[in-house]
Amino acid sequence: MEEKSKPSFYVTTPIYYVNDVPHIGHAYTTIIADALARYQRLSGRRVYFLTGTDEHGQKIERAAAEKGLKPKELADRVVVRFKELWRKLNISYDYFIRTTEDFHERGVQKIFKQLLDRGDIYKGTYQGWYCVSEENFLSEDVPLEAEGYKICPDCGRRATLLEEESYFFRLSAYQQPLLDFYAANPGFVRPQSRMNEVVSFVRQGLKDLSITRTSVRWGIPVPGDPGHTIYVWFDALHNYVTGAGYDWNQELFQTFWPADVHLIGKDILRFHAIFWPAFLMAAGFPLPRTVFGHGWWLKDETKMSKSKGNVLDPSLILEQVGPDALRYFLLREVPVGLDGSFSHEGFVQRINSDLANDLGNLVQRTLTMVLNYFDGEIPSPGEETEPDRQLAKRFAETASRVYAYYDDYALNRALEEIWVFLNLTNKYLADQEPWKIARQPEARNRLARILYQAVCAIRGSSYLIYPVMPETAEKIWNFIGEKAKPGQVSKSVLAFYDLAAGTRISKPEALFPRIDLREFIGEVEKPKAPSEIAPKPEVKMDYITYEEFKKMDLRVARVLAAERVPGTSKLLKLQIDLGTEKRQIVAGVADTYQPEELVGKEFIVIANLQPAVIRGVESQGMLLAAEVDGKATIPFFDRELPPGAKVK
Ligand code: ME8
Ligand code: MG
Repeated sequence: MEEKSKPSFYVTTPIYYVNDVPHIGHAYTTIIADALARYQRLSGRRVYFLTGTDEHGQKIERAAAEKGLKPKELADRVVVRFKELWRKLNISYDYFIRTTEDFHERGVQKIFKQLLDRGDIYKGTYQGWYCVSEENFLSEDVPLEAEGYKICPDCGRRATLLEEESYFFRLSAYQQPLLDFYAANPGFVRPQSRMNEVVSFVRQGLKDLSITRTSVRWGIPVPGDPGHTIYVWFDALHNYVTGAGYDWNQELFQTFWPADVHLIGKDILRFHAIFWPAFLMAAGFPLPRTVFGHGWWLKDETKMSKSKGNVLDPSLILEQVGPDALRYFLLREVPVGLDGSFSHEGFVQRINSDLANDLGNLVQRTLTMVLNYFDGEIPSPGEETEPDRQLAKRFAETASRVYAYYDDYALNRALEEIWVFLNLTNKYLADQEPWKIARQPEARNRLARILYQAVCAIRGSSYLIYPVMPETAEKIWNFIGEKAKPGQVSKSVLAFYDLAAGTRISKPEALFPRIDLREFIGEVEKPKAPSEIAPKPEVKMDYITYEEFKKMDLRVARVLAAERVPGTSKLLKLQIDLGTEKRQIVAGVADTYQPEELVGKEFIVIANLQPAVIRGVESQGMLLAAEVDGKATIPFFDRELPPGAKVK
């Protein structure tokens, strides 16, 4: 089909705050979105999948200040961590939006201005309580504590009292339009229980919403009134239109807006189910089809969150089991709408039984038999018997149910169905006993049929698991010489018997090695590195082993003489004593230290660094120094040490 005439599908995740690095909760939403995006592409739709980061507001301003960084510097560092995690998890997003991008800021200002001109935004004074952690105005009925302050009902932290000039959005005017909209679109909020919650909230009455702050600087200025900064949620929600081309790519915007589904956690349901459609109505945009509020991942009965510090680091888990095991577990374990509790035991148990055993063994055994009995060529099948027909029929039924579940966002049900079928296939093999038939030369046609059936079952299943487990599906395609890729397979014609006899298969590697629970726990509960958001290059950062570290010969060196390297402003030439020998090194520390003041000082050098010539001067080693804003600071010792002493 012509790309342009395909039906479209637009899916979003929340844009995540950059106050800290990503955890399992963020991974969860993003994996759901990715599975839906991949499924829709497999179904022949033109898909746009948007994710990104929410970088403005007081919470980020504060988090940055605490770390001694500018907000944008903090954001830049954390963005790398999100992108790195999404790469490791095979997240196939089409665009990663950052709210600090120009086109987004311009788009938000333009919409703000329109609403102002139309009278949906007006200026007044806000008096009330604000929670920075949730970036939320408390409703008036939250009671005052005896000590004279209010506690945020969502996060339990102390709120701040505000009294400032503010622009307001006329939310009260949208109470009835919203109720009418919900009534006409009962599937707008899912699951259904959440829709009821939203409707009853709106029925209680809506107050106008403060959408600017004068006491916050880090954000988008109000057009024409830069003393006011646009409220971070007004800013953030509009990412769903600016990120889809609003005001900069008309074709994109026409194709994809309105969104098919905004995936969010239930913590931010009101923003998405009440404020967002009201903003959109005011601006005259069509409304999104669905807001899906999924449940929380809990650890020890409480919501995992950065602010509670009880989060699991997905990258440690990924190092142990790879992306597909984590993707599978999170999507299989609980229905998308409910809360789930993450336990290492439950995780390891699922991987060993569902992945290593049910799926991995099936593939391994079947393909090994094809290798052993048919020299690695998919055999031309003998006559079809009743059990074979049954298996094919069950696959067709499974596929249509799985598609229906995927269409309905019931990912756990889709996976359950697939696993029922995989176990039927395992049972088929156990009943047909190909390993016995292999010993009867006269039954070779039957053997060929059984193995052909089993490879068909594996192939068919690989397309069904693909949205959730893309890497595994691709491994299977490589094993069985499958040329078609998801974009070329339409789900409506995915036929069980679409497997060419004579295709060569390759020796399968184990898809999911069994995991040992104790080893797994030891690895994923490793103490964290001291600074979680130290700058990190966008390349994969691997641990080094102690053996690798030991290769560095770190020594105490004492400075004997120091002078500037002529013609440079930063470099000093140092003569150093390494105990057993004297050496010369060049160091870029002249911004911070005078040559004279270094004489007699001791510090650490890497003694076995390959010598280099720097600005014409030979350097036989390197000293260690911290670099802040381009200036080097040398860590000195707090007592005198013998030159040459080993540092480790
Ligand atoms: O709320 N279980 O960003 P945020 C499941 N910037 N999902 C979880 C989770 C958990 N324990 N913890 C977090 C914001 N999530 C705003 C959004 S959108 C215009 C602006 C997921 O960094 C879940 O999707 O606090 C939740 O909604 C989101 O992370 C909140 O991320
Ligand atoms: Mg949050």
